[in-house]
Amino acid sequence: MADETAAIPLLTPYKMGKFNLSHRVVLAPLTRSRSFGNVPQPHAILYYSQRTSRGGLLIAEATGVSNTAQGYPETPGIWTKEQVEAWKPIVDAVHAKGGIFFCQIWHVGRLSNRDFQPNGQAPISSTDKPFSPQLQSSAIDVAHLTPSRRLRTEEIPQIVDDFRLAAKNAIEAGFDGVEIHGAHGYLIDQFMKDQVNDRTD
Ligand SMILES: Cc1cc2nc3c(=O)[nH]c(=O)nc-3n(C[C@H](O)[C@H](O)[C@H](O)COP(=O)(O)O)c2cc1C
Repeated sequence: MADETAAIPLLTPYKMGKFNLSHRVVLAPLTRSRSFGNVPQPHAILYYSQRTSRGGLLIAEATGVSNTAQGYPETPGIWTKEQVEAWKPIVDAVHAKGGIFFCQIWHVGRLSNRDFQPNGQAPISSTDKPFSPQLQSSAIDVAHLTPSRRLRTEEIPQIVDDFRLAAKNAIEAGFDGVEIHGAHGYLIDQFMKDQVNDRTD
């Protein structure tokens, strides 16, 4: 009988849906804060291609789905034509070395501040509840967060559509797929967690 507890060596192939990965070492998404003006920069060609191996999976740094999605300095987006065009040579470089490249699409929700928002508006969220102190361990200092504005029910389809368009743009940029960032207390997590989501609609 096979030993089900036996470790699977990292450097063995793995079939992930339609992708045949040649090993199981994955580049985790890592925010770099070097995409000036929310546009990926040419230096990311070197960064990602250095981390590419033939048949290896890479997940790009969290990438904003819209102009309300940002909460950290100089993080990339994928909602404008300029951003899509800027991603293309980066994706091409990963493909040239045989890598499989996913874009992580992201909306920070209330983990933001009005300086990151269009017209200095309040960040949007599932809630307008103030932060509770246990969230102080977040990457952003709580003192710098602007109280969020609760999305109206009729606004939510627009946010879903932003994710849809971002995924479409990622494919247009050449990515092999997307990972929807649904963790770490960002917008989707704000809807998923009962401690934060106090909605009745
Ligand atoms: C500087 C830094 C940036 C990160 N950026 C992202 C990110 O953009 N998206 C994400 O899902 N996780 C992000 N993470 C979490 C890492 O992907 C996570 O630490 C990684 O999955 C490794 O997991 P481990 O620390 O449990 O080994 C970040 C972590 C660090 C340290």
